[in-house]
Amino acid sequence: MCGIVGYVGQENALDFLLNSLKVLEYRGYDSSGVAISSTDHKINVVKAKGKLNNLINLTNGLNIQGNVGIGHTRWATQGVPSDINAHPHSNSNCSVAIVHNGIISNYIDLKEELVSKHNIEFTSETDSEVVAHLIGVYIEEGLSTKEALIESTKKIKGSYALSVISKEDPGKILLTCNDAPLVVGVGKNKDLYCASDSAALLKYTNQIIRLKDHQIAELSGNGEFTIMDSHNGDFISPEVQTMNFDPFHLDKGEYKHFLMKEIHEQPSIIRNLLGIHLDQDLNINFEGLDEAVFNDINRIIIIGCGTAYYAGLIGKYLLESFSRIPCEIEFASELLARPILADERTLVVAISQSGETADTLMAVKSALSKGARLLTITNRPESTLAALAQNTTILIRAGIEVSVAATKSFTAQVVCMYLLSLHLAAKVKELNPEELKWLKSSLRAIPLIMEQVLSRAEEYREKILPFANKTSFIFLGRGINYPVAMEGALKLKELTYVQATGYASGEMKHGPIATIDENVPTVSILLPGPTYHKALHNLIEAKTRGAPSIAIVADGDKEATREANVVFSVPELPRADEFPHLQDALSPFVSVVPLQLIAYYLAEYLGKDVDQPRNLAKSVTVE
Ligand code: AGP
Ligand code: GLU
Repeated sequence: MCGIVGYVGQENALDFLLNSLKVLEYRGYDSSGVAISSTDHKINVVKAKGKLNNLINLTNGLNIQGNVGIGHTRWATQGVPSDINAHPHSNSNCSVAIVHNGIISNYIDLKEELVSKHNIEFTSETDSEVVAHLIGVYIEEGLSTKEALIESTKKIKGSYALSVISKEDPGKILLTCNDAPLVVGVGKNKDLYCASDSAALLKYTNQIIRLKDHQIAELSGNGEFTIMDSHNGDFISPEVQTMNFDPFHLDKGEYKHFLMKEIHEQPSIIRNLLGIHLDQDLNINFEGLDEAVFNDINRIIIIGCGTAYYAGLIGKYLLESFSRIPCEIEFASELLARPILADERTLVVAISQSGETADTLMAVKSALSKGARLLTITNRPESTLAALAQNTTILIRAGIEVSVAATKSFTAQVVCMYLLSLHLAAKVKELNPEELKWLKSSLRAIPLIMEQVLSRAEEYREKILPFANKTSFIFLGRGINYPVAMEGALKLKELTYVQATGYASGEMKHGPIATIDENVPTVSILLPGPTYHKALHNLIEAKTRGAPSIAIVADGDKEATREANVVFSVPELPRADEFPHLQDALSPFVSVVPLQLIAYYLAEYLGKDVDQPRNLAKSVTVE
């Protein structure tokens, strides 16, 4: 969702802008544009609706040279996607150009004021255009670009990341933000960059500075920059962070789609995570995590959206079963819909791949205002979420996830939830040492078993393609596999646009069964464990009403294999003969992979845009 990039240095800005906007494509957008301050100090703006290639084709025919430029991928909030509404926006004489992420909530009032007091003619329907005109008006009144930006931020309300160039200060980029991410990148040879998502800078620099709300950064062509707090005018000494992401993640390699590459990365990500946090003696270690966050807690609230929510729901099952600490889980947006009951003995666990999801951030801030403690689980150490929990963040270390549909971040989040719940279980002494040992050593076996599941991908493809004409699916799972059923349905919806719903198997007879007929296949997770037979009865209930039944089963399974029309078998997980209640504890890792592959193969067969499904954004930065 929306992206900002900018460059000031010795090179031609356009190359960087187009390359880095290309990286930001994964976030989802509807139009794009660039503004470049040319060597003769004119500002050239080029923008186009649709895919970035439209912009690239437009710039091909133009000779835009200049060492200072800003670029944008827009995800329309105010005004339809169109060439005119695309960013950058300029003031009337094109002496200022801005790009904006977010929503200026008082733009209608500001627009009326600019029209009535300054006779300004607006060209777009966007909220963002007011910022260009405001800055332009202040510059005409004699302010520098920086002063004009500071004055403008006193007038605008809402969320914004802003990047500004102007003829008044031709060799500079000005930046500011509020409730929207923006980083400065410090490159070699005095090159300076900015981006709303640091992934855009990976190929250029790994040295970044995350701007905090109300800070103003001024980047100059000689490699110098300043950061100032716009509220009190104090200059800030910047905290430079080193990004550890590998640009390898931005390349599809041998795969046709990032999604398939990311599905296949899962075993190595889990192996790496376990290598870091689970030592040879099976001790769990979260180095750098402030353990005081767990002291005296009597309640846990897990917060997330979409796939992160489903990983959290698995976490709820684990935390309650292993540590017996009461644990609730909420969609972040719903937690905001009523007063939050939290206090200083409440631990909020916020899960977000991007660390920038607006609903999650707002819910976290609201819980913090009640005194709750915060632990975050994210893929992005430089994110706003991680900044809210500096010593209490667990990184999922999945590498940049390019495909909009989350896969590797899901299983990495689930690993972190296992480690967290086993860590707490050991603290509160709820599981006996033998159970703990079995769980931890079985966790170690997961990457290899997952590799074996992935080696069956072709077989899964052949089995699922005969269902490609179906327009509705029901996914069923019990206990710890209920969240996996919902995640499987979400993947199918996102990738194929086909109706798919995930239900707790036992709930099907309470209503959804009415929708079942021979056109509605059920996909049931039937892995060994305490809920197996009940879930099998639910499969049979659907089958007797005509539903074609697909089952995810373990090798050697007999009963479900006899009943289902099609089975997707996965290797057996370590046997828990002495602890039968734990037999399905680790099953989400293997049950989710066939579901990810089912969604992928159907989408690919149906010719869908697998990596960038329609209407979706990688990180949803509006509430
Ligand atoms: C997953 O496939 C989705 N694209 C979406 O549900 C996503 O998980 C959700 O928007 C949360 O994102 P986050 O983890 O970055 O907060
Ligand atoms: N609200 C602005 C618009 O609709 C910015 C949207 C975005 O963040 O891309 O143009």
